[in-house]
Amino acid sequence: MNIGIVVYSETGNTKGVAKILKQKIEAYGHKARIEHIRADKKRKHLEIAPSTHPYDRLYFAAPVHAFTLAQPMKKYLRDLPDLPEVPVGVFVTQQFRHKIFGGMQALRYMKRMLKKRDATITASGIVHWTHPGRDRIIDEITDELLK
Ligand SMILES: Cc1cc2nc3c(=O)[nH]c(=O)nc-3n(C[C@H](O)[C@H](O)[C@H](O)COP(=O)(O)O)c2cc1C
Repeated sequence: MNIGIVVYSETGNTKGVAKILKQKIEAYGHKARIEHIRADKKRKHLEIAPSTHPYDRLYFAAPVHAFTLAQPMKKYLRDLPDLPEVPVGVFVTQQFRHKIFGGMQALRYMKRMLKKRDATITASGIVHWTHPGRDRIIDEITDELLK
């Protein structure tokens, strides 16, 4: 399988989780590629909006900003054409330890937008960056995303 992980990451946290996911995918003998969304400094315009073709499975990942999904990922999902019929997984990273600080809202937004594009969402997760058990949580979430 050829698997795409579409990531928006500013300080590297979400990208770091994506890299772990990529390593696990490759350990199963599949091809995986991280595709980066790039935005301007004000996060208003996308400079790079990766294509979702030709992947057999897709992941989308971004940080929580201001209690919701980071704007560049919102914009990317709003502009996304219909997806190929492939399984889709989503995850977000956030600073605070409680999902009410934006994680749930961000995931809900991602799922709603992706379902509009006919996506079948198979798994999702929130990584709380300041959680003392962060590494274990990343391990569990990336395992779950592989299912
Ligand atoms: C502008 C801005 C707003 C943020 N707002 C929140 C927030 O509302 N809730 C939260 O838990 N974390 C918040 N954070 C922290 C990020 O979600 C967290 O550090 C995330 O892991 C960063 O991911 P990245 O390194 O991939 O950019 C915010 C960070 C920034 C830069």
